[in-house]
Amino acid sequence: MIKVFEKIKDIRAFVESAKREGKSVGFVPTMGYLHEGHLSLVRCARSENDVVVVSIFVNPTQFGPSEDYKDYPRDMERDISLLENEKVHAVFAPDVKEMYPEETLTTIHVEKLTEHLCGAKRKGHFDGVCLVVSKLFNIVNPDRAYFGKKDYQQYRVIERMVRDLNFPISVVPCPIIREEDGLAASSRNIYLSEKERKDATCLYKSLRLADKLIKNGEYNTKRIIDAMKEFIMGFESVRKIDYIEIVDKYTLEPVSEIKGRELIALAVYVGKARLIDNMEVQI
Ligand code: PAF
Repeated sequence: MIKVFEKIKDIRAFVESAKREGKSVGFVPTMGYLHEGHLSLVRCARSENDVVVVSIFVNPTQFGPSEDYKDYPRDMERDISLLENEKVHAVFAPDVKEMYPEETLTTIHVEKLTEHLCGAKRKGHFDGVCLVVSKLFNIVNPDRAYFGKKDYQQYRVIERMVRDLNFPISVVPCPIIREEDGLAASSRNIYLSEKERKDATCLYKSLRLADKLIKNGEYNTKRIIDAMKEFIMGFESVRKIDYIEIVDKYTLEPVSEIKGRELIALAVYVGKARLIDNMEVQI
């Protein structure tokens, strides 16, 4: 039977008791409204640990003032039943007061890795992510923590924060989970109308186009990006391309030429949903 904890002291006691029994603890932090992407992280955590803890917390500090914090989809009952099916041991689902009982005066800012991609477009977003993830790491104290590569920049930022701050935790990246037509699984897909849902495949299709160009010998990143832009703007429901960037996948710095260690990443507004996707370049 899955255990649901709302209080920090209770999840701490649960994990401490598992650890006293010599059990390893895997942790999947989420903002809820779970989909196949989250469940794939949970399955990976289950296969590598004795005990799996999932957190469900829509973290206000990672949303900008004009972003969708209030509207972010929530369905705790459904989430818990999905996690119960996956045989997760415990859920940590605190309320905002439990996580932020007073004004937070501490900032965690990872430099350089946050300068481009979503970091450039969502000012302060990764500071909010780093703050909540480090709080959750200190609360849950897991051995391993699982992050999806759909949020590739988030994965790299957390990996670096863990290294810089000596958290005794292994960060495990997991592959992007896609729908049959290629759309990356995301809680925000719920915002899409039927037509927008169809057009939302343009993100993945544009990555496939880039892959094809590279395989045909096009290594100039500006030309690849221009071709992706032109392709995406042909879809009626696309409101705006927030960015398309080709960066070194370790430093996340833009590059002008493909060398085989790049990430192609993009964010596109389809209807009111801001969707992201990416692909690691293979040559
Ligand atoms: O990826 C997410 O859902 C969130 O950014 C995370 C890691 C749970 C922190 O709120």
